Amino acid sequence: MKKISVIILAAGKSTRMKSSKVKVLHSIAGRPIINYINDIAKKNSSSGIYYVCSKETENYIKKNFPESKTIIQKNKLGTAHAVQCTKNFIKKDNNDVIVLFGDVPLIKDSTIKKLIKFRKKSKTIGSIVAFKSNNPFGYGRVILKNGFIKSIVEHKNATTHEKKINLCNSGILICESKYLFSRLNNISNNKNNKKERYLTDLCELAFNEKKPFSFVECSETEVLGINSRKQLIELDLKFQKIIKDKLIKNGATLIQPETIRVSYDTILGKDVIIEPNCIIKKGVKIKKSTSVFSGTYLEECSIGHNCLIGPSARIRPKTIIANNVKIGNFVEVKNSQIGENSSVAHLSYIGDTTIGKKVNIGAGTITCNYDGKNKNKTFIDDNSFIGSNSSLIAPIKIGKNVTIAAGSVIDKNVKSSNLAIERSKLLILSKKRRSKNS
Ligand code: UD1
Ligand code: CA
Repeated sequence: MKKISVIILAAGKSTRMKSSKVKVLHSIAGRPIINYINDIAKKNSSSGIYYVCSKETENYIKKNFPESKTIIQKNKLGTAHAVQCTKNFIKKDNNDVIVLFGDVPLIKDSTIKKLIKFRKKSKTIGSIVAFKSNNPFGYGRVILKNGFIKSIVEHKNATTHEKKINLCNSGILICESKYLFSRLNNISNNKNNKKERYLTDLCELAFNEKKPFSFVECSETEVLGINSRKQLIELDLKFQKIIKDKLIKNGATLIQPETIRVSYDTILGKDVIIEPNCIIKKGVKIKKSTSVFSGTYLEECSIGHNCLIGPSARIRPKTIIANNVKIGNFVEVKNSQIGENSSVAHLSYIGDTTIGKKVNIGAGTITCNYDGKNKNKTFIDDNSFIGSNSSLIAPIKIGKNVTIAAGSVIDKNVKSSNLAIERSKLLILSKKRRSKNS
C-alpha cells in the first residue's frame, strides 16, 4: 500500500477576511477551522502532516497538533509555491501526497477515501476533488477532455465561455510525490497574476505530458471555501444545520431549530427538548428527557436526565448538574455541582458551589464567591433549604437538613439540622404618633 503525506495549505494572507486574526483560526460551530482539516489529515496520512502557514498559525499548530510539521511560507507566491515549500521534508518517491486547503474545512473523510481509491483505480498520476455549482463565481473551472482534466482555469482568468462551466475545483488533490515535486518547478508565474504560481496549472502540465489527472465529485456544501467573513458566516450556518439534523435524527427535539445554535461537539440524549433561541456553546452534554426552555445559554457543562433548565438560564463552564434538577429563569450557575432532585428555581447566582441532593435554593439566593481577591467555595449539604433572598458569604459550609431563613446574610458555617436566621429587627411605628411628637 502506498504511504500518504498530507500537505495543508494555510499561509494565505486572508486579506478578504478583514481581520487581525488569520482565517484558519476563525471558528465555525465553536471550533477553529483548522481543527476540522486536521481531523481529516490525521485520518488519512500515514507519512506525516505538513502545514504551510504563517507564524501566527504555526504557534497554534505547535501547541495543538504537536505531531505535525510546520513550514513558514514567507512570501505568498501562490499555491504551487506553497506546496514547493515542503520539498525538503517529503520524500520524492512513488508514494502519494494529498493537498488540502486550510480554508475548505467541511470536506468529508469519505470523499478523501474515495479520492485515494479512485486514483488507484484510474491509474492516473493524480486526481482532484471537483464539484458542480449553480453559482461557481470565484472558483477555478475544471476543463475536461475525454473524461480527464485538460486544465483548471481560475475564475478571474476564465473566458466568458469558460465561466459558464459549472464543474469546479475544490483545491483538494492527490498526486504521486515524485511527479508532483519534479513538475512544481515547471509551473511558471501565472500569465494573469504575475506574482503567483498556481498549483492548478499542474493539471495542464500533466495533460500535455499525456498523464492527465482524473477527478471525483462531491457535494458543493462539503467544499465551500471561506474567503470572506460573509462566507465564514454562511458556512457556519450550513454546518449548524448539518449538526442539528444529526441531533434531531438521534432523538432530540429542537423546536424552531433555525433559532437555536449548537456546537460541533454537542451531545443530546433521547427525548431532550430544546426550545427556541437557546445557545449551546462547546462542551455541552445533556442526558435523556431533559428540557431546556427558551433563551437559555449553556457552555461546557453536563446536565443529567429529566432536568428542567430555564427559560433564560445561564449555565457556565465546569458545571455538573445531576438528574431531576430544576434550574429556573434568570439563574446563573458557574463551576458548581448540583445534586439530584435539587432546585434553584428563580433569580439566583450559584458560583464555585457544591450543592447536595434535594436542596431547595430560594428565589434570589446569591453565593457570594468573590471577596475582591479570591474566589471562595460554598458547600450546601443534602436536604437543606435556603430561604429566598439569602446571601451565603463564601467560604462557607451549610450542613444537612439546615434551614436558612429568608433574607439572611450568612457568613458562618451552619451545622446540620440547625436553623439560621439573620435579620435586623422589624420596626412598625404608627405614623400618627410620630408626627404628634415632632
Ligand atoms: C483556490 C484554487 C481554485 C479553487 C478554490 C477552491 C488555486 C490557484 N486556486 O482558489 O481553483 O476553486 O481554491 O476553494 O489553487 N495559500 C498558501 N500560500 C499561497 C497562496 C495560498 O498557503 O501563497 C493557501 C491559502 O491559505 C488557502 C489555499 O492555499 O488555504 C487556497 O488559496 P486561496 O488564495 O484561498 O485560493 P482561491 O482563490 O480560493
Ligand atoms: Ca480559498
